[in-house]
Amino acid sequence: MTLEINLDGKKALVTGVTSGIGAGIAAKLAEAGCDVTGCGRRAADDNGATAFLDSVHAHDRKAYYFSNDVSKPDEPQRLVDQAVDAMGDLDIVISNAGRNIFKGAENCSQADWDECMSLDLASHWRLGQAAKNHLTGNVRQPGVIVVITSNHAWNTIPGCFPYNVAKAGLVGLVQSLAIEWGPGIRSIGIAPGFIDTAGGDTWFNSFPDPSAERARTESMHPVGRIGSIEEIGHLCAFLASDLCGFINGTTLAVDGGRSALMQDD
Ligand SMILES: NC(=O)c1ccc[n+]([C@@H]2O[C@H](COP(=O)([O-])OP(=O)(O)OC[C@H]3O[C@@H](n4cnc5c(N)ncnc54)[C@H](OP(=O)(O)O)[C@@H]3O)[C@@H](O)[C@H]2O)c1
Repeated sequence: MTLEINLDGKKALVTGVTSGIGAGIAAKLAEAGCDVTGCGRRAADDNGATAFLDSVHAHDRKAYYFSNDVSKPDEPQRLVDQAVDAMGDLDIVISNAGRNIFKGAENCSQADWDECMSLDLASHWRLGQAAKNHLTGNVRQPGVIVVITSNHAWNTIPGCFPYNVAKAGLVGLVQSLAIEWGPGIRSIGIAPGFIDTAGGDTWFNSFPDPSAERARTESMHPVGRIGSIEEIGHLCAFLASDLCGFINGTTLAVDGGRSALMQDD
């Protein structure tokens, strides 16, 4: 085995490619050799959807985009059917689509809870179920499911409920899929910390001095900065490759050491 991430000819499905982390993942999988099907709720002519298509085409790989709300019970199956129709097969699924539903335990309504559990927990299980038969390979060439959770899966801060509950559930989902669907499928979680996205900019801009808040946030990370969408993309490509054939059933924190800190002062 050569020390090279080679996903040549692999067919990947990535959810939530119209912005942020999913856009970074799709581009890096294409760079590593994958054809990529992506989804978001936005229409196919939205700038985020066309940017996704362009980012895959830039690497001379095929790209397909479908508008799909994965939080609705039947939509993950429809998405997988569309992906398989378009690409002919499926080797890698990156279940990334999600949203910060930060309400706090006191203020979380039943509707907030249901929305969060549908998107940030159940949609990942349903996508896996829909993709399972297409992904299943063998001991040497298993299909791969990567689920994007969060470092909130392990430690959280006040007000982030019920998002952190759903993300904690994904750690268990990855374990169960690994032990029940192996050896034909490997299942791995990625738990990003603060990643530089438009959502992060909105957060910083909600402070009177956005650049001071960004600097403060960066200084709370032992690496002295926040992460990039490309770094999550690199890791997805690496985890999906044969180099990581023995990585299964675990969730990897990618947060610059932020969650290793006991306290900030
Ligand atoms: N950014 C971070 O710092 C961070 C940290 C830890 C974990 N994460 C996780 O990483 C994942 C991506 O987050 P992000 O920061 O990149 O967010 P983002 O920039 O808001 O992107 C979210 C993506 O998911 C899609 N999406 C949202 N709801 C959807 C739905 N119901 N059905 C289909 N697609 C949907 C969005 O597409 P449309 O707008 O087209 O619907 C968009 O493409 C999430 O699971 C998030 O929890 C992010």
